[in-house]
Amino acid sequence: MADPARLRVGVLVSGRGSNLEAIVQAAEAGRLGAVVAVVISDRPAARALDIARAHGIEALALEPADHPGRAAHEKALIGALEERRIGLVCLAGYMRLLSGSFVKRFEARLLNIHPSLLPAFPGLHPQRRALRHGVRVSGATVHFVDEGTDTGPIVLQAVVPVEPADTEETLAARILAEEHRIYPEAIRLFAAGRLSIQGRVVEIREAS
Ligand code: GRF
Repeated sequence: MADPARLRVGVLVSGRGSNLEAIVQAAEAGRLGAVVAVVISDRPAARALDIARAHGIEALALEPADHPGRAAHEKALIGALEERRIGLVCLAGYMRLLSGSFVKRFEARLLNIHPSLLPAFPGLHPQRRALRHGVRVSGATVHFVDEGTDTGPIVLQAVVPVEPADTEETLAARILAEEHRIYPEAIRLFAAGRLSIQGRVVEIREAS
């Protein structure tokens, strides 16, 4: 039987779902200390929903078009998460901006992953912008979500080299491999109660 004390994670997705898959695999291997209780997409055709179903996880599509406006759509989203007693919400390629009131509702229990070394290259196309800028290293960042775009307190980062022959695709693939490593790790630290936010700095406590 599921452990009722175990942290229940909800993952919000819009597309491919490779980070979701890494998180689910970590949970199945007992490396997460949490259960993935629901996966919710704003796009019913998202491959991520198929991944959830294939692993026996509830997969929900909540389409903005089915609601009279953004506030109503978010209200449905919040309702779905709260009904399922979700303790941590993970954005994994969720392509909609969340309102300040959603962010407040899940304050300090809302994570995102971004494919750059924040605060460099927040927002769209970070890998393309990293290449155009000529940086020598890039990487991935897991951060708590605040009201800005990719501005919240940083939990974990991983660095990758930028090679002279890189294209947007090759750099994105190198970064993605690191995303798949650090997102489950960040969730594991959260689930173990080892993260605390001090201003904009996240403190990671030693395991007790
Ligand atoms: C990842 O690169 C993630 O960092 C970004 O969106 C992409 C989602 O990919 N936020 P996937 O759906 O997890 O494969």
